Amino acid sequence: MKAIGILTSGGDAPGMNAAIRAVVRTAIYYGYKVYGIEKGYKGLLDEEFVEMDLSSVGDIIQRGGTVLKSSRCDEFKTPEGREKAVEILENYGIGSLIVIGGDGSFTGAKMLSNLGVATIGIPGTIDNDLAYTDYTIGFDTAMNTVIDAISKIRDTSSSHDRVNIVEVMGRNCGDLALYSGLAGGAETIIVPEMEIRTDEIVNKLKTTQKRGKKHSIIVLAEGADIDGGALALKKILTEEDHADVRVTVLGHVQRGGSPSSFDRILASRLGNKAVELLIAGKSARVVGMKDNKIIDMDIEEALSMEKEFDVDIYEMAKVLSI
Ligand code: F6P
Repeated sequence: MKAIGILTSGGDAPGMNAAIRAVVRTAIYYGYKVYGIEKGYKGLLDEEFVEMDLSSVGDIIQRGGTVLKSSRCDEFKTPEGREKAVEILENYGIGSLIVIGGDGSFTGAKMLSNLGVATIGIPGTIDNDLAYTDYTIGFDTAMNTVIDAISKIRDTSSSHDRVNIVEVMGRNCGDLALYSGLAGGAETIIVPEMEIRTDEIVNKLKTTQKRGKKHSIIVLAEGADIDGGALALKKILTEEDHADVRVTVLGHVQRGGSPSSFDRILASRLGNKAVELLIAGKSARVVGMKDNKIIDMDIEEALSMEKEFDVDIYEMAKVLSI
């Protein structure tokens, strides 16, 4: 019987370990051999393979990061690199591969499936930027990390009557900023998907100040179209509003930490489903969650879908923060 390979690729996300555990345990339950491939596609090309057993995924469901490590790999993006990868997989008797990552990692999986390797993608990224699934593994935990930070910043913001800009990750997707901003009670949320002029931000601050509220939290998505980013925005607000402004760039703290129960359960369900699909002879598919149900979809179709930003929630957050 052919073995199953598993790797994590791209930026790590809390809950990846829970997904690895689910894949390994499900595969072993059904009698398959599993190889963990370390450091993503790079490790595949460098033959960093380790045979996994039940205990190699013991005590990891609660750990952030990925025990398989992750990387981004240029060599794998070349046709020669991918052919080499297929040859290596064949040498190890690995006929199918589970890839945990984001859209770049899925593109790699799709290409391998064209070369005859059965592949299934599991969405793992804090960005929640994959259109076909309501949630990606890691998003919920990252959102809670941001909310925790906002709450702490709010304490000091209020003590000093300051404006605090909190910059959050997400690449070109505003979900992390939107939902953490909403849950954290941010006065202003700035995302790549919605245009906002800096004079609107200034006016909002002035209105808030007029009704006696001197502190304000602005959640700024890293991909938002603000020339010069958080520091430039700070300068504008200081000049236009005479506000005392501080900037916090949350950075990689958002990528770490013990996964939330939501992420652990999602990861467990998706990992289990991915193996079941391979056993059923499926390939070039991704797993995800739609309306609280686990789904699977053709990988190319999933990658071609455009992520929809929830404008209704964005507008509602604006109403709630007047
Ligand atoms: O895709 C996840 C992510 O954390 C993005 O939100 C962020 O822009 C990027 O990765 C940072 O990448 P790196 O860890 O390579 O600096």
